[in-house]
Amino acid sequence: MGFVIAVDGPAASGKGTLSKRIAAHYGFAHLDTGLLYRAVARLLLDKNRPLDDEKAAQAAAFALELAYMDESRLRGAEMGEAASRVSIIPAVRAALLDRQREFAAQAPGAVLDGRDIGTVICPDADVKLFVTASAEERARRRHRELESRGAAPAYESVLADIRARDARDAGRSSAPLRQAEDAVLLDTTTLGIEEALAAALAVVDKVR
Ligand code: C5P
Repeated sequence: MGFVIAVDGPAASGKGTLSKRIAAHYGFAHLDTGLLYRAVARLLLDKNRPLDDEKAAQAAAFALELAYMDESRLRGAEMGEAASRVSIIPAVRAALLDRQREFAAQAPGAVLDGRDIGTVICPDADVKLFVTASAEERARRRHRELESRGAAPAYESVLADIRARDARDAGRSSAPLRQAEDAVLLDTTTLGIEEALAAALAVVDKVR
């Protein structure tokens, strides 16, 4: 069993970028677990199945081969929204549990980021971070990112999407988004990526 770092937080909190940088720093593997839920949603949409078809969603989760999926078809706000719909299905979460735990077990270590890593997937993680930022700041970052890619929805609509996703992720009954009791809170509202990384590495280095 390697060293496990669990990183949870809401949409657009910067936890993905941060997790990638933490993993690179220590030479650990990194899994963006949101991609698993996005891939399940993608498989359903490709088969013209509704996102609340529990049987089809469970089958898709078991059959999932992330390595064969084109990541560019999983990114984007609509897929995040679709992922958040399939992620409320307990059978989907159960089907994805073992592969996340297997990933976490590799040497010399692994960083997993998502919503329930510290609470459900890796409750014994060596380090748990809960990365957040105000909804307005997350919407500003997401809006800037979308603009740089040529898409320009109004800031207000980006903020409304973020609030809706927060409510769904925190309000669902199966593995809702919440900070584990032993997680360290990292609020990045006023931090740049380098400052957030330095703060995260300081937390990890204390334990390693
Ligand atoms: O992090 P990302 O935006 O890619 O996640 C997409 C959706 O997948 C989230 O809104 C959430 O509903 C779901 N998810 C989850 N558990 C995780 C990771 C993502 O429920 N560990």
